[in-house]
This record gives sequence, C-alpha cells and structure tokens, in this order.
Amino acid sequence: MKAEIIDGKAYAASLRARIAQGVTAFQATAARVPGLAVVLVGEDPASKVYVGAKEKQTIEVGMVSFAHRLPADTTQTDLIALIARLNADPKVDGILVQLPLPKHLNELAVVSAIDPDKDVDGLHVVNAGRLASGLPGLVSCTPLGCMMLIHDALGADLSGKNAVVIGRSILVGKPVAQLLLAANCTVTIAHSRTADLPAVVKRADIVVAAVGRAQMVKAEWIKPGACVIDVGINRVPAPEEGKTKLAGDVDFEGVAEVAGSITPVPGGVGPMTIACLLHNTLQAAQRRESVPEVKPI
Ligand code: GUN
Repeated sequence: MKAEIIDGKAYAASLRARIAQGVTAFQATAARVPGLAVVLVGEDPASKVYVGAKEKQTIEVGMVSFAHRLPADTTQTDLIALIARLNADPKVDGILVQLPLPKHLNELAVVSAIDPDKDVDGLHVVNAGRLASGLPGLVSCTPLGCMMLIHDALGADLSGKNAVVIGRSILVGKPVAQLLLAANCTVTIAHSRTADLPAVVKRADIVVAAVGRAQMVKAEWIKPGACVIDVGINRVPAPEEGKTKLAGDVDFEGVAEVAGSITPVPGGVGPMTIACLLHNTLQAAQRRESVPEVKPI
C-alpha cells in the first residue's frame, strides 16, 4: 500500500480534547458551559444510535446535553413549538434535529424554524447563504470534517489545487465544494449526469466522494498522489455468510495503491462529524456570549 492512511478517529479524538479545553476557557468567562439540544422524533434505529453517541460525546467534552425524544406521531406544530422554546432558551447554544424525520413532517420547514445562530448542523438556508457569500456562519459538520482532514494531509495552503467533489447533496457535496473554493481550489462538482466521470476525477489533486454508491471510485480514476476523502457509508455483504460490513464510495484497496493519502471507512470522515458538531456548538456559544473564538485547528 502506497497511500498515507488519514486517521479520522485519532484526529477527531485530538479535536475533542481541544474542544474540552475551549469549554473550560468558555466557562471561565461566561460562567456557564455550552449547551446542545438534540431532538429525535420516532424510533429509527440508526438515528437512535447516532443521537446516543452525540449526547455521550457532548457530555465528555464538558458541555450540557438537552435530549428531547418525541414520539413518531409528533405533529409539525408541536415540533416547531419545541424548536421555538429552544431558540428562546439562553442555556441552549446549539439545536440539532436528527434527520430523517417521519414522513408526515416537513424537514425543510422544521430546519428553517431553527435560529440560524443555533443551527450547529449548518443546514439552515441562511447558513448555506452565508457560506456561499463568504460570511461567518455555521458550517455543516461532515464538510467541515472533510476540510480538516484535507488540511491535515496536504497542509494549510490548498491554492490552485484541482478538487473534484462527486455528489451534489445539500448535506455534503455543495457545502464541501464551497469550502474548497474558499480555500482557493479549482472546484468541479461531478454527479450522476457527469460525462466521463473517470476522466474528470483523474484531473483531481483532491477527490471528495459523497455519492452513496459502494466502492464506485476505482484506482484507474485516480491521479497518482491525490488526496482521496471518502464520505460514503454503505452496507455491503461481508465475506462471512449472512453478515454485512461498512464500505465507502471508494474502492479502498485499489485506490490506496495510487493515491498519496486516503481516508478509510470506517475510521475516516465518520468520527469527524460528531467532533465537528461539538466544534460548532462551542463556536455558537462563543459568538452568543461574545467570548473570543479560539480556533481549535
Ligand atoms: N442524519 C444523518 N446525518 C445527520 C446529520 O449530520 N445531521 C442531522 N441532523 N441528521 C443526520
């Protein structure tokens, strides 16, 4: 194997340690700790696991976690009323509504009800607009985590690098493209209708794969030495009968022979997402209390 393996698990652990120090410093000035409210509606098993992990790590860095578990038949009116209470609560710096919501709820309307300055998921259109306009805001967690890992692998200066983002979702593809552009990369957003995707990817110094198709990106597509960031989390059959395992959007074994650096799945981008949620919560708290922002990276 030729590529450096980018260890997202270790990076996320060191980021959480720095956030914990930031929480201590915040508390010394603001006389309280940052608070994160997490709202879970219904019984989706994966969402329950994610929310449990978010609560645990929030407490581990010294913040306070406000958990709201609501039944699957919660009405839109009741959910928006809860968000209004959290918006008005001075102890709450960040609000996260776990997605997907049950089908009868309108996700866009629910996310739009969150105060943009407490939108630690960075999903509110105001934060998407701030990002596109180069204004300070809250940046969605997975794209922020991708950028931290890219800087870790390639250094602070990404100017002039060709970056190809595969996928155009609101959650990952579009915001990561904006962040790469802000870092002076030449950015291409590729998607399901892109002509000759392998040739497009072959030009990239940085590849961010966020399509949701297991092992789609092949070794032959990769420019030797490129930095490859794999956002995919796909379940595929495991070698053992009847079992499944996690696979990214990148054919890791093949691509690692060509790339200069690569994130594994699991243990790459995944652990960064919750660490960046905590980063955003600290940042939101610092801004709300006019405490100087200490950049954790
Ligand atoms: N569901 C899966 N990923 C996410 C995320 O990053 N934020 C929220 N709110 N829900 C999710």
